[in-house]
Amino acid sequence: MFRRIPSSTLRLFMAVSLMPLACGASVTHAADLRHGEEVFAQECAECHSVREGKNKKGPSLSAVAGRKAASVADFVYSDAMKQSGIVWAPAALDAYVANPRKAVPGGKMKYDGLADAHDREDLIAYLGSLK
Ligand code: HEC
Repeated sequence: MFRRIPSSTLRLFMAVSLMPLACGASVTHAADLRHGEEVFAQECAECHSVREGKNKKGPSLSAVAGRKAASVADFVYSDAMKQSGIVWAPAALDAYVANPRKAVPGGKMKYDGLADAHDREDLIAYLGSLK
């Protein structure tokens, strides 16, 4: 009975069934940019564009990785964000996206936070891939 299943089907089955295992072990997890883009579309795109110069309710996140907080010239930030002194390194983005109100108390990003660390990792890798 096993012989009738083409080996390519079996390989696919194994790859798919092992995927959650691979993702669960965060040490071996390679960031998934496409998933990060999906997370961005679902969670952030309502307020943010990744196009340079395009601000929505929030500032453009084009090339956000590594730049100083509150540095989009024509966006009106909260005083809290202006005074935060944050540089958007991956760890800072992670803390902010996980809990904006805790990372920048008094900030004006009305977002409750993204609880899933795995989603945040892919999202931040996606943001880091934008030039
Ligand atoms: C409801 C609208 C809204 C949503 C949803 C939202 N943001 Fe924001 N975001 C804002 C606003 C408004 C600010 C400006 C905050 C301030 O000035 O305190 C901001 C600021 C930021 C900043 C700082 C940018 C800079 O120029 O310093 C980052 C990074 C950021 N958001 C990332 C995200 C990510 C990633 C998501 C999705 C997980 C997200 N935001 C979801 C509205 C939003």
